[in-house]
Amino acid sequence: MAGPTGTPARTGARSFGIDIGGSGVKGAPVDLDTGALAGERVRLATPQPSTPDAVAKVVAEIIGSFGWDGPIGVTVPAVVTHGVTRTAANIDPSWIGAEAEALLRETTGRDATVVNDADAAGYAEARFGAARDHSGIVLVTTLGTGIGTAMIVGGRLIPNTELGHIEIDGEDAEHRASDAARDREDLSWEKWAKRLQRYYRTLENLFWPDLFVVGGGVSKKADKFLPLLDLRTPIVPAALRNEAGIVGAAMLASGGPARPA
Ligand code: BGC
Repeated sequence: MAGPTGTPARTGARSFGIDIGGSGVKGAPVDLDTGALAGERVRLATPQPSTPDAVAKVVAEIIGSFGWDGPIGVTVPAVVTHGVTRTAANIDPSWIGAEAEALLRETTGRDATVVNDADAAGYAEARFGAARDHSGIVLVTTLGTGIGTAMIVGGRLIPNTELGHIEIDGEDAEHRASDAARDREDLSWEKWAKRLQRYYRTLENLFWPDLFVVGGGVSKKADKFLPLLDLRTPIVPAALRNEAGIVGAAMLASGGPARPA
């Protein structure tokens, strides 16, 4: 496209993000300067069983459909250390101990970086969303089937915080306070907010963040439950919604600005 002076319009650096969820695998190229998707998002169903091999083939199909040949960032609902998936939430247990990064590199022929789903979403929120350019301690929580968390300190991600599994009254916090718990137990907003209150109060007493960001699908309805919380820490809904995982994954891909260790 020609710019106003007849010179080619500037197109920002791009990367590619893929978000692997329990029901869908979504991917799109991302403009790294703006955090916007640089093409229409493609979503394919997560294969069942969702083994690493089967999912890697779907990832290859998605990037193939874009003709993408650069590096890719891929999220998984799992702890990831040094390219190995260590846990498996809402995905086949065979991901535990899988050499996910090596497998994705082999299957796709691309330079793949694998990151935890909440870390990717949180990182995108800190860069382009609700905590844009925040210089302090930001705790991003994603309320969904489980509770994912991302801690960003001065713009730097501390990966794999897993604070959805903090034990409160002898119970895994996500079991009581996730959006799935609200659904499963058919909780009113008020009843669910009481559980969230306990959860966020515990987090703020332990970590003293400067800001909470609340993501996950239910953050669309933040006005139903955030006003019911009484916390000392400001708490705001996520801004990027369901694109945050793709955007964060693309940003954290090899060669990206802040790849976690
Ligand atoms: C997992 C996290 C994941 C979160 C959201 C939790 O159960 O332990 O790794 O980020 O769910 O998918």
